[in-house]
Amino acid sequence: MRIGILGSGLMGGKLGVIFARAGHEVVFSYSRSRKKLQRLAHDAGSNGRAGTPREAVKDADVLLLAVHWSNVDDVLQQAGDISGKVVATCSLPMNDSDTALIVASESSGAEELARKAPGAAVVSAFGSVPSEVLFAVFEGRRGDGRPSLVYCGDDARAKEIVAALIRDVGFDPVDAGPLRIARYIEPFTLLVAQLAYEGERGPALAYRFEWREERS
Ligand SMILES: NC(=O)c1ccc[n+]([C@@H]2O[C@H](COP(=O)([O-])OP(=O)(O)OC[C@H]3O[C@@H](n4cnc5c(N)ncnc54)[C@H](OP(=O)(O)O)[C@@H]3O)[C@@H](O)[C@H]2O)c1
Repeated sequence: MRIGILGSGLMGGKLGVIFARAGHEVVFSYSRSRKKLQRLAHDAGSNGRAGTPREAVKDADVLLLAVHWSNVDDVLQQAGDISGKVVATCSLPMNDSDTALIVASESSGAEELARKAPGAAVVSAFGSVPSEVLFAVFEGRRGDGRPSLVYCGDDARAKEIVAALIRDVGFDPVDAGPLRIARYIEPFTLLVAQLAYEGERGPALAYRFEWREERS
């Protein structure tokens, strides 16, 4: 696939390099440093190139939105028309000091994004994982016990495309349902990030649901 990266920082930069190494064509865009975009394109090998947000959107099968919430309007404006595009978003609706979600409970960043870009098929994905683990997951992708990654969205075809990318990175995609489920995924992400800061001292998180049919 052709993948346009809108926001080439910790998340967009790493995921873009991984997508390219997995065989996709990737355009890195949206950084204040053209050199950084070129370095990422170089790291991505022959499948990577640097461009503007508009160039990232052109001919893209899927876009990855990975900017701070305060930059969403700006990057969308620079990207131009994204109607008809599949947009995977990991952008969390955080305040300027990154201490709290500013959209939560009755909506989510992913749903707000879908309102800002009404013609696009938005899928919430990758936001629940810290960027630090992405390369390790990619390198371990052929081993047993792939980590799960939840995603959600309203468009079935867009979800299939994003699930394929999640698999390419090395995760086992878990369909969490419609886009409104992002209301629960985004706060969960803050818990994961908080515990990640504790490093080795923190708890190993395990969660599991079991369902057994009641037999009388
Ligand atoms: N980092 C994580 O582990 C993580 C995990 C889950 C979700 N998220 C979410 O993912 C999103 C991206 O996070 P991140 O950590 O990847 O952020 P980041 O490293 O700060 O990357 C943001 C990108 O936006 C660019 N940018 C910022 N202001 C700009 C401007 N005025 N003009 C052009 N480019 C500009 C940055 O460019 P420069 O290269 O110039 O800085 C960078 O490429 C956020 O919404 C965050 O909440 C992050």
